[in-house]
Amino acid sequence: MKILLLTVGLALVCGLQALENNAEDSTEITGNWFTVALASNVTSKIEEGGSFHIFVKSISGNNDVLQGEFFKRTNGKCIAFSVTATTGEDGELHTEYDGENDITVQSIDSEHVIFILNNTKDGKVTVWGELFGRTPDLSDEIKKKFEEICEKFGIRKDQIRDLSNDDRCEKLR
Ligand SMILES: *[C@@H]1O[C@H](CO)[C@@H](O)[C@H](O)[C@H]1NC(C)=O
Ligand SMILES: *[C@@H]1O[C@H](CO)[C@@H](O)[C@H](O)[C@H]1NC(C)=O
Repeated sequence: MKILLLTVGLALVCGLQALENNAEDSTEITGNWFTVALASNVTSKIEEGGSFHIFVKSISGNNDVLQGEFFKRTNGKCIAFSVTATTGEDGELHTEYDGENDITVQSIDSEHVIFILNNTKDGKVTVWGELFGRTPDLSDEIKKKFEEICEKFGIRKDQIRDLSNDDRCEKLR
């Protein structure tokens, strides 16, 4: 009986440890997020009224299909909408949103994720970047990383907007 109890106890401890380890190196894309910064080489698109001026709420799904819940403001009013991204034969994520978008994940850890997207609309390519945080704001270190990644894709520092102090339709969360 003692041995049985001990075994059950050990199994429980191991199970809990496994859970904890999972949470620690959580590089999951799914779950709740906040848009901390936006960037684009066409800045009108990330400013109020621009089609990329959108705020994430959450991402769900698996490796092949991801569904994002977002908010945007239209005439001062917040509305919720969703976007679906699928993995193409090339192994890259694509989504249809104001044109065709190729998406890459440039950086991810338990606090943030950085996406760079190529948007193609009417034959024109626009690059845009999104910095999502698990919290409404992120460290300067992560913001710096976002700047560096943006620069690599031809987006200058003055083409980045920090949204951490903006209303990102929190009321609807
Ligand atoms: C966007 O296009 C450029 C140039 O073709 C390429 O280097 C970059 O990897 C592309 N990015 C994405 C997210 O597809
Ligand atoms: C934005 O970047 C894309 C890809 O590098 C380029 O094709 C496009 O001309 C750029 N747009 C502007 C306005 O600089």
